[in-house]
Amino acid sequence: MPPSIVAQMLRSGLYTAVIGRSVRFYQSTGSTMDDTAEWARDGAEEGAVVVAETQSASRGRLGRRWVSDEGNLYFSVLFHPEPDALPLLSPLAGVAVARAIRQVAGLYPSIKWPNDIMIDGRKVAGILAESALSGSQIQHAVVGIGVNVALDVSADLEIAATATSLNRASGFEIDRAELLRRILQHMDALYLDLRRGRSPISEWRRWLDTLGQRVTVTHHGATETGLAEDIDEHGNLMLRTDAGELLTLTAGDITLRTNNTVPLPAVGEGLG
Ligand code: BTN
Repeated sequence: MPPSIVAQMLRSGLYTAVIGRSVRFYQSTGSTMDDTAEWARDGAEEGAVVVAETQSASRGRLGRRWVSDEGNLYFSVLFHPEPDALPLLSPLAGVAVARAIRQVAGLYPSIKWPNDIMIDGRKVAGILAESALSGSQIQHAVVGIGVNVALDVSADLEIAATATSLNRASGFEIDRAELLRRILQHMDALYLDLRRGRSPISEWRRWLDTLGQRVTVTHHGATETGLAEDIDEHGNLMLRTDAGELLTLTAGDITLRTNNTVPLPAVGEGLG
């Protein structure tokens, strides 16, 4: 049996202070989100990472499914953040993934708000942040990342329309272990910065391609169209509606479509 992606990654050395000091690998599991939360309840230290080769019950934002076939990258990271840092974990992960893709695949991704990692308008990676609260206390937060490395997007019409993979976009076989190593190292550096008061938002804004675009957002069944004017220091989107009102939108349960010309028909998003 070939060495696991984690064994391969550790061979090259993982140079981090917090993230990845404890790592678990599963050949197959339900969801690394659940494994990490369970490990947190059992006392896992901050920075614990769960990596899986396949997942049978993986989830994306808004309860969407996330295709989890072999050959891609699926992992979750445990945090015990200060309250102010909680909304910044997802942007932090987006920056780490964008930087690592650029280094390992030689591609220049962009981020579609709130946190879809895109190449040439197609989604290549997704980020899911979940937290457990007890009253106003944060018990823990889990940030899950899925990257399409070798995903056969042509296998599913809906996915083919909206997603791509790093192998397909780069034209060569991406070293998954190296990609994982780089993402974790960037997350670690960005998290140490965040703890020292340096937010990832300014760099995140530079990777975002949503600003300045006309977008349509759907929120609790209501639809608003307008200009994506800016993001605030928490990563919320400031939308100038066509009626001139400035709305502050939190990622939570929002679906966003880019809408530069005419209103687009609804498309399946977030499918891996
Ligand atoms: C999105 O909707 O874009 C977020 C997708 C997040 C998928 C990852 S794969 C690893 C982790 N485990 C899950 O069940 N989901 C996340």
